[in-house]
Amino acid sequence: MIRLYNEEDIEDIITLEKKILNTTLGDSLYIDLENPFARHYVYIDNNKLLGYISSVFDGDMISIMNFCVDDNYQNKHIGSSLLNYLLIQCIKENNNLTGAILEVRESNKRAIHVYESFGFKNIHTRKNYYSDLENALVLMKEFNHYDDILNNYLANYCNIERKNDYIKYSDNIQPDKYFHNYYKFFDNENALDFISENNDDYLMVLVNKPLNIKNFIIEKEAIMYSSLKMLNLRNYISKGNIKIIDNDNDLYNIIYNDSIKYGKNYADSEALRKLDKHNNIYHHGIYIDNTIIGYLLVYTNLNSIYITDFFILPEYQHQGYGVSLFKNIVDYYKNNGYFDCYLCADLEDSVINWYQKIGFVVINKNYYYRRCK
Ligand SMILES: CC(C)(COP(=O)(O)OP(=O)(O)OC[C@H]1O[C@@H](n2cnc3c(N)ncnc32)[C@H](O)[C@@H]1OP(=O)(O)O)[C@@H](O)C(=O)NCCC(=O)NCCS
Repeated sequence: MIRLYNEEDIEDIITLEKKILNTTLGDSLYIDLENPFARHYVYIDNNKLLGYISSVFDGDMISIMNFCVDDNYQNKHIGSSLLNYLLIQCIKENNNLTGAILEVRESNKRAIHVYESFGFKNIHTRKNYYSDLENALVLMKEFNHYDDILNNYLANYCNIERKNDYIKYSDNIQPDKYFHNYYKFFDNENALDFISENNDDYLMVLVNKPLNIKNFIIEKEAIMYSSLKMLNLRNYISKGNIKIIDNDNDLYNIIYNDSIKYGKNYADSEALRKLDKHNNIYHHGIYIDNTIIGYLLVYTNLNSIYITDFFILPEYQHQGYGVSLFKNIVDYYKNNGYFDCYLCADLEDSVINWYQKIGFVVINKNYYYRRCK
């Protein structure tokens, strides 16, 4: 179990730090209990403290200070779980944090491996930094927040206009053909007024709290995050043939079939839109005997991937094809230099439980109100 430290942990933390690191934060651990910028986490198993990570919000960065696992328990992914937990809390808690930074001994290959597997990069070497004159590597990880990823993703398809209480996303490629204009409100009360006055046939509004309105299709989404490293898909088998879709007919048909629930016009425009080429957008399909049966879109941004529009056609669901497609994509991007994964899942669908089981955490929620002909 990982949690924030408390006063009862301090003696054990000091003992562990002295044993593993030869140094301790000592009494400042008592002061940090009241420090709103300190975030120290402990790993507890059977009431025993096995690992610990300390950090502090330092301007727009989180600085990682002491990080250690009891020597009998090293190399069992306790350290990775602690670091993962800290990063998730940072991403969840504070949208203004731009990254995490730390120093590590140049010779500490294991720690460097752990940091690099979460996307930390060496940005500087501090010569003779330690008392024995060993160099320190300064490693940094840039955070890529969901809101920025989504805005960049939509900027591929839309004009983005910022107003006081909302952002308007409007199609700019062929506005007479596509209908995907929508509004993201910061203040839910203003969204309510806006919706009641607006007669747009294809109105779509995104808010962060549920609203009481009728005659709209409501989609409740969880925004989920996991580092790619911590996703546990080892026990799932591969089925079907997974590839980047290189055939326009396949792409059109699979999107049309999935979007038809919103009407023919909508399905047609959504499918045509996917045929336009966009930066960093990759369409992946799963095939059985050359027939496409499922789809998953990946948008890449810095070191992150954003998975959206993931589905398997109804007659092929619950047979392991979705999991196979997902696992394949995760492995592919993990092996190609990506570290973070975001996705949105239907809040009322049990798939959320599966995402959580493999390592995703819910970092936020969205509510879409959609009216379409
Ligand atoms: C660094 C430390 C916190 C990591 O915690 P941990 O629980 O041992 O680490 P994990 O088990 O999560 O991960 C170890 C990873 O390093 C790899 N590794 C082990 N020894 C390695 C070595 N000599 N060189 C490169 N990689 C190594 C493992 O294969 C594993 O990689 P994987 O996750 O890709 O399979 C812990 O080992 C520790 O306390 N070390 C001593 C104190 C220290 O160095 N602290 C960091 C100061 S900045």
